[in-house]
Amino acid sequence: MRILIADKVSDELIARLTQLSAQVVCRPDLDADSLPEAIGDASVLLVRSTKVLAKTIEAATHLSLIVRAGAGVNTIDLEAASNAGVYVANCPGVNTDAVAELAIGLLIGVDRGIADATQALRSGKWQKKRFGKGQGLKGRTLGIVGAGQIGLAVARRAQALEMRVLAWSRSLTRERAEQLDLGYAPALTELAQASDAVTVHLALNKETNRLLGREFFGAMKARAIFVNTSRGEIVDPAALVEAINAKGLRVGLDVFDNEPAGGEAPFAQTALAGLVTCTPHIGASTDQATEAIANEVYRIVESFFRTGQPLHVVNLRNPVTDETKLVIRHFNRVGVLARVLTKLRDEDINIEEMQNSIFKNDKAACCSLSLDKPPSDATLQALRSDQDVIEVTM
Ligand code: 3PG
Repeated sequence: MRILIADKVSDELIARLTQLSAQVVCRPDLDADSLPEAIGDASVLLVRSTKVLAKTIEAATHLSLIVRAGAGVNTIDLEAASNAGVYVANCPGVNTDAVAELAIGLLIGVDRGIADATQALRSGKWQKKRFGKGQGLKGRTLGIVGAGQIGLAVARRAQALEMRVLAWSRSLTRERAEQLDLGYAPALTELAQASDAVTVHLALNKETNRLLGREFFGAMKARAIFVNTSRGEIVDPAALVEAINAKGLRVGLDVFDNEPAGGEAPFAQTALAGLVTCTPHIGASTDQATEAIANEVYRIVESFFRTGQPLHVVNLRNPVTDETKLVIRHFNRVGVLARVLTKLRDEDINIEEMQNSIFKNDKAACCSLSLDKPPSDATLQALRSDQDVIEVTM
C-alpha cells in the first residue's frame, strides 16, 4: 500500500511510516490543483494544510484513508470522501494546549498592545502614555464560543487569570456548564452582551460558516476584546471591521478568511492586519504540538494497516439503533453466513454493520449484524432452521 504525503512532515514520521509501508512518497510541493494528478494508486493520503478536493478523491484509484495532520477537517471534501467510501481521520485534542496558549497570548497581547508597542519601540518611539491603557483581565468576563476541548482548555487558563468564564455552544446545557464550573450563555448574543472579551473555538462547517456577523458584533461591548484562533470563515470580516471602527473593538486573530494554504505566501489582507494584533495561523504550530500530531498520525495509519480500521474517523454515520440488531450464534463452518445474508437479501434488508467473533477452539462463532429494518417472523424462522445456526436473537 502506497502512502502519499502531500505536505511537509518530520523525517522521523517519514521513517516510522516507512516501517509500515515500503512505499512512502513525500511530495510537499503538491497543492489542491496538482494533487489529482499525483494521487494515482495511493491507499493513504496524508495532508496538513493541502486541500483535498473532490477531484482528487475521484482521480484516486485505490484511496482508502485520508489523514489530516491536525484537528480541523474543513480542508477536505468530506462529502466526496464519504460517497467514495474513503475514511477521513483527524487528530482531535492533540494540539488543544498549543491553540489555547495562543488564544490566551492574543488576549493579553491585545489588552496590553504588545505587538504595536514592539513595533513603536523598534521604530525608535517610547510611547508609555499611548500603550499604558490596558483594561486588565482579572475579574473580567471571558465569553467562550464553542465548549469543545480547546474552548475548555482556554477556560481553565482564563480561570487561572481569575477571569469569570461564560460559555456558549450549540450542545452546551446549563447543567453541563455548571458541572464544568462555567457560566452559561443560552444564546450567542447574550454571551456577546455579557463579555468583556470573547474567544472563538468552533470547527468550521455549514452551521458555523459566517456564524459571527453584525448581530453578534453589534451586541459586544465597546472596546471589548475579540480573539479568533479557530477558522476565519466563522466570522463575517466586513462586520468585524465595522465593529472595530464603530466601537473600538480590540481584536486578535490567528486565522483569516481564505488564508493561504502553505507555509510561505504573500498576504493580501493587510488592511485588516493593520487594525488587529495577528499571527499567521500558528495556533497549533509549537514543537510540542507538532511532535504530538506526528505520533497521532502514526497511530492512525498503524491502526489502519493492522486492523483495517483507522482511529478518529470523522465521516462515519452514527451507528444504527439496537432495535435493528440481529445476533446469530452459529457453528464456525463455511457457508453459514452466506446463507444468512442471502435470506436477509431476499427480504430486501440491507446490512449496515457486521461483526463476527470466533470462540476458542474454533467450533462456534457469534455474528452481530445491524440491519436497516427488522426481518419478518418468517425470515427469522428460516434463519433459525439453518442446520449450522445455534441461536438467533433480535
Ligand atoms: C487544526 O485544525 O489542527 C489547527 O487549526 C491547525 O491547523 P494547521 O495544521 O493548518 O496549522
